[in-house]
Amino acid sequence: MAAVLTDETLVHAKRVTKVYHTGEVDTYALRGIDLEVKAGDFLAIVGPSGSGKTTLLNLIGALDNITDGTLEVLGSDVSRMSRRQRADLRLHALGFIFQAYNLFPVLTAQENVQFVLELQGVNNERGRRAREVLDRLGLGEYANRRPPQMSGGQQQRVAVARAVASKPRLVLADEPTANLDGENARVLLDMMRDLNENQHTTFIFSTHDPRVVAYARRVVTLVDGQVAKDVVKESDTHDAG
Ligand SMILES: Nc1ncnc2c1ncn2[C@@H]1O[C@H](COP(=O)(O)OP(=O)(O)OP(=O)(O)O)[C@@H](O)[C@H]1O
Ligand SMILES: [Mg+2]
Repeated sequence: MAAVLTDETLVHAKRVTKVYHTGEVDTYALRGIDLEVKAGDFLAIVGPSGSGKTTLLNLIGALDNITDGTLEVLGSDVSRMSRRQRADLRLHALGFIFQAYNLFPVLTAQENVQFVLELQGVNNERGRRAREVLDRLGLGEYANRRPPQMSGGQQQRVAVARAVASKPRLVLADEPTANLDGENARVLLDMMRDLNENQHTTFIFSTHDPRVVAYARRVVTLVDGQVAKDVVKESDTHDAG
């Protein structure tokens, strides 16, 4: 069972457009996206390569500016926020998981997780808190390893630990299982679902993998920068995959 949805809207996109200008060329990556995401959702964004999935995640993550429309994330209009306010939003309310795990290779698993708590100004018991998250996600035995000493699946799980250590309301994941085999993908998704159910963390993840889509509660399909389909599953089929 996925987490129970509440009435609180975490993401509200209205007619969101994104145009990239490169030299003489304008690329219309998003053409009027309407999307509302409630707290507790477990949402997959699918669609062909180039349909705008990464662009949409980057906009919701306040990593890039929308061209037109309005986009509210956790109740604030991101296009009206200063750079500082966006940085604060990312640091304190959002978690990010990327396809290429993006861990610091010279830091241990525990230090990678702790690092975010440091940035957040958590002064007390950073080590203990980082260790707690790693243990909770079944990563305790890797706490002192550096990423190059871990498998891809293990590294991606550390990336999840890092993304959720600060208990963000919303986690954005861009093809989080793209570099993982079936078994590691399943472990990762079980972990994400556990956080969704037990910590009420909202997840929005993009994917090309039908096995990952099977885990989602709701599936939004992008085609050519537009929402072509938006389907909420009748019942959860979490045992798929
Ligand atoms: N920084 C950029 N500058 C110019 N064009 C870009 C940029 N980023 C993406 N695009 C273009 O915007 C469109 C949407 O790209 P996006 O990366 O969002 O697609 P995607 O759905 O994530 O694709 P994939 O499944 O391959 O990851 C594409 O036509 C892409 O070429
Ligand atoms: Mg992409």
